[in-house]
Amino acid sequence: MREAAKLTNVTVSTTAAEAAHTRIEPGILYFGTPVVLLSTADQAGTANLAPMSSAFWLGWRGMLGLGAKSKTAQNLMRNRECVLNLPSDALAAAVDRLALTTGADPVPSRKYERGYRHEPDKFARAGLTPVGSETVRPPRVAECPVTMEAVVEAVHPLAEDDPKQRGGVLVFEVRVQRVHVHDDVRMPGTEDRIDPDRWRPLIMSFQKLYGLGPQVHPSTLAKIPERLYRGPDIERSRANENRFTNGSQR
Ligand SMILES: Cc1cc2nc3c(=O)[nH]c(=O)nc-3n(C[C@H](O)[C@H](O)[C@H](O)COP(=O)(O)O)c2cc1C
Repeated sequence: MREAAKLTNVTVSTTAAEAAHTRIEPGILYFGTPVVLLSTADQAGTANLAPMSSAFWLGWRGMLGLGAKSKTAQNLMRNRECVLNLPSDALAAAVDRLALTTGADPVPSRKYERGYRHEPDKFARAGLTPVGSETVRPPRVAECPVTMEAVVEAVHPLAEDDPKQRGGVLVFEVRVQRVHVHDDVRMPGTEDRIDPDRWRPLIMSFQKLYGLGPQVHPSTLAKIPERLYRGPDIERSRANENRFTNGSQR
């Protein structure tokens, strides 16, 4: 039997640990994150829409992991604007119609080998409706219950330490400056809250699409009032005029 790891604060049982887990090397570690339909625009103002799910939020900042050769990454590098449209689980079929498509032309060779094809009009392909945004050029998706207009504040390279992977994936740090929601996901009796019992995100887990089940346990963290999470980016977002609805510039 291997010697137990020396830890000062807990007693480690190697036999119990070995019985509970089997060591594996999965090709991907996508344990389940919400799908985002990311709209961007190129220099000519042509809109693109791409599903992605390597995304998380801290305050009004979003972190978005994207292949550097995607049309979306190229649009973000140039124009630094996007809309994060969050589809509900009811929109799974529309999201799936965008799978294996790219706005990039020509299709990058690695993608071509995996069956990707160029699609110039992703909105039509998905059967989704573009509607104008207030502060950025890319359109919002009318059918998505949540849409967040955002600007790129920083680009963080992933796996810079490895010459084989360097430059392949970029993590875009975006600052949200408008949140729009369908009324049916709002918490009754509140001005600014989304009700997690009404909001049904579409989740991608190991390439497959899922919904969420009901709440499974009372949450101790939820005792912290949501207003205590409000950060300075919310105030900052109000300084932005409605660039495209009343003509003034950001
Ligand atoms: C459900 C789903 C989730 C995806 N998540 C990501 C992701 O997090 N990051 C990424 O780079 N590509 C992701 N992809 C693949 C992109 O959609 C794909 O690279 C696409 O070609 C990007 O489109 P674009 O080249 O027009 O930007 C996902 C695809 C699907 C269908």
